Amino acid sequence: MYLSKVALAGPIRLPRAGREPAGRQKDYPCPSPRPHVSIGLAPEGQLARQREWLEESWLWLLRTLVLDEAHERSGRPTALDVGCGPGLVMELLSPFLDVQGVDVDPEAVRASAARGTMASVARAEELPFEDDAFDIVYCSYLLLWVDDPEVVVREMKRVSRNWVICLAEPDHSGRISYPEGLSVLDDLFVASIREKGADPAMGRRLRHIFAKCGLDPIAGVHANMWIGPTPKEETDAEWVSLTSGTDRESLAELQGVWERAAADGSLVQFNPVFYALARKGPVDQGRLMHE
Ligand SMILES: C[S@@+](CC[C@H](N)C(=O)[O-])C[C@H]1O[C@@H](n2cnc3c(N)ncnc32)[C@H](O)[C@@H]1O
Repeated sequence: MYLSKVALAGPIRLPRAGREPAGRQKDYPCPSPRPHVSIGLAPEGQLARQREWLEESWLWLLRTLVLDEAHERSGRPTALDVGCGPGLVMELLSPFLDVQGVDVDPEAVRASAARGTMASVARAEELPFEDDAFDIVYCSYLLLWVDDPEVVVREMKRVSRNWVICLAEPDHSGRISYPEGLSVLDDLFVASIREKGADPAMGRRLRHIFAKCGLDPIAGVHANMWIGPTPKEETDAEWVSLTSGTDRESLAELQGVWERAAADGSLVQFNPVFYALARKGPVDQGRLMHE
């Protein structure tokens, strides 16, 4: 294991669901239905690495806060994954949840079916389900890409009868890179995310968005941190991901700093990733934050 996934995630280590190791999956290049505006079409390898970084923390949160004894007695709770992409998170959680997904991108839905996870094409803003249809409605790495995250969280709340969960929203504006010369990368990455139409500071807004939707969440930050020494394959993949959309030739000097730091083990990349979990139902209005 190359990533230190301290946490929050306490001492419990859970068995992995059977699947391919991260990085071996095929990328799925999906065309955007909205020209010039990205909807979060990350290569599947990148999504797999994100899952690898966070899976222990996600499973710990679910096992500790959500999957209570009643559920364990009555079988797996039903769940909806909103903006499910190629189904990697559903695959991870399917030993615990009876889960299906929706995604606006038909190619992602096909990739999910190929993986054996069930999904259909739908917009997060208009979920084609009755009120209170699922025990748990969750998303990950979705809200930064949507036009109005509050509309999406309200819709998730409508179709949930119990839990509304955002497993992960990154806060790229809060990135830390070390050695110091690499902080230019953070600025470039934030600019490229913004150019693609996403909100690079979504993570920090998560709690407030839940509150505006009448939800009182348990919220926090996954304590994942990438430290050296890390295999070259891993640092190369991260470099490609961070510099996608940037003229790489102009970054030759920076790439040298990156590669030396990766080789001597001093490279640190920290990208805060927030979560929020809330039970639907009456909340203590006094504790809510307002606009
Ligand atoms: C970064 S990917 C995350 C995929 C998956 N949740 C994961 O964590 O691996 C974002 C996904 O959200 C989908 N998406 C973006 N906007 C959407 C919308 N308004 N309604 C439904 N899906 C949307 C994209 O098509 C993409 O598959």
